[in-house]
Amino acid sequence: MYKMTKEKALEILHKNMQNTNLRRHCYAVGFALAGIYDYLKENNWKADSPDNSEDWEILGILHDSDYELTKDDWTQHTLKTLEWFKEEGVSETDPLYLAETSHNNKITGLREPQTQMEWALECCDELTGFIVAIAVIKPEKKLSAVDVAGVKKKFKQKAFAAAVEREQISQCEEKLNIPLDAFVEVVLTSMQKNSQDLGL
Ligand SMILES: [Fe+2]
Ligand SMILES: [Fe+2]
Repeated sequence: MYKMTKEKALEILHKNMQNTNLRRHCYAVGFALAGIYDYLKENNWKADSPDNSEDWEILGILHDSDYELTKDDWTQHTLKTLEWFKEEGVSETDPLYLAETSHNNKITGLREPQTQMEWALECCDELTGFIVAIAVIKPEKKLSAVDVAGVKKKFKQKAFAAAVEREQISQCEEKLNIPLDAFVEVVLTSMQKNSQDLGL
């Protein structure tokens, strides 16, 4: 059976996405997903998702890989990536393929997130951008200047990064059984540990 590697995932991303900040968003979601995997393994792991952090990170790297090509027609977002998966030999029953199908599901209507990995992507996607939005308004413009309390505070200020749907993030409590504070901490720490790759 075909196995997507991190190296191949980065190759696909870099071939199809040139904008540095967009690429960094994909890396950030990859780091976040790897961190959420580690958290779930120690807490309430369900055997419905790939049991290694690299597969989770790969999903993050690839989840928006067609974004630059589809940003003017959101109905196509994820569909291009799914085509590339097929060309690469990823089967339609592969957890990576299924998870990509669940992304942007509100527009494509293809698949509601179901597994822990799929819900993790749904819940952390916007949170990574929200954390970046907080880091860049800090005087030092660094992820190290961000803390959980600060993120929670901005979370309550609806005017701040108003486009970020808070509800999508707080679903981590219901869907992943992770308290919001812990979820923010896991995602923030995962990003901070890899701040060099995120340019922050
Ligand atoms: Fe997306
Ligand atoms: Fe995304």
